[in-house]
Amino acid sequence: MLIAPSILAADFANLQRDVAMLNRSQADWLHIDIMDGVFVPNLSFGLPVCAAIARHAQKPLDVHLMIVQPERYLAAFKEAGAAVLTVHVEACPHLHRTVQQIKDLGCRAGVALNPHTPVSALEDLLPDLDLVCLMSVNPGFGGQKFIAHTYEKLRKLRALAADQNPSLLIEIDGGVNQQNAPELARLGANVLVAGNFVFSATDPEATIAQLKTATASQFA
Ligand code: DX5
Ligand code: ZN
Repeated sequence: MLIAPSILAADFANLQRDVAMLNRSQADWLHIDIMDGVFVPNLSFGLPVCAAIARHAQKPLDVHLMIVQPERYLAAFKEAGAAVLTVHVEACPHLHRTVQQIKDLGCRAGVALNPHTPVSALEDLLPDLDLVCLMSVNPGFGGQKFIAHTYEKLRKLRALAADQNPSLLIEIDGGVNQQNAPELARLGANVLVAGNFVFSATDPEATIAQLKTATASQFA
């Protein structure tokens, strides 16, 4: 199980300190939430902040684009250090082309689904994808409650991928914590994003280690 703490919940006035903590920790990726105030009702941060994080991060940057027309910024985010680029199916009328553009840049290609979007929306694209991100909250804000229907979507997606793309990474984003992580691991998730659960903990580094342990035991 890969653990991807979300920088959205970090202390923006101490980003270098928080990135150093993630470097020391058992985190596998750094999750970078980009919001445009149009696709989602919030603004987060953009390219210069992503590039600044990349200068200090010793782990891959998992960039989650919650923006309209993401194809306009793919090359710029690659330049700013993205290893994984995830776009929203709801923001891409020509999703197949957008996914090819991500791959042509040499990044891993991810597609995110809002809570209301069925996994069947990806039926004809699954073999082309490296990662699918199931949103387990409505995107736009950290610290929201996990939507339990995500378990059902995860089960369906894992079954769909078993035929078409067995090495597909399934990422769960929103409201992940110590309680739901073991079940998500059991149902076949590979990447867990965790924002508030990690950064509001007294000891974020230990919390990441706990998530790692709690999910690893599911495979024992
Ligand atoms: C929500 C973002 C998430 C968010 C997760 O729009 O995509 O990545 O940072 O934060 P928590 O874990 O606090 O729900
Ligand atoms: Zn995210």
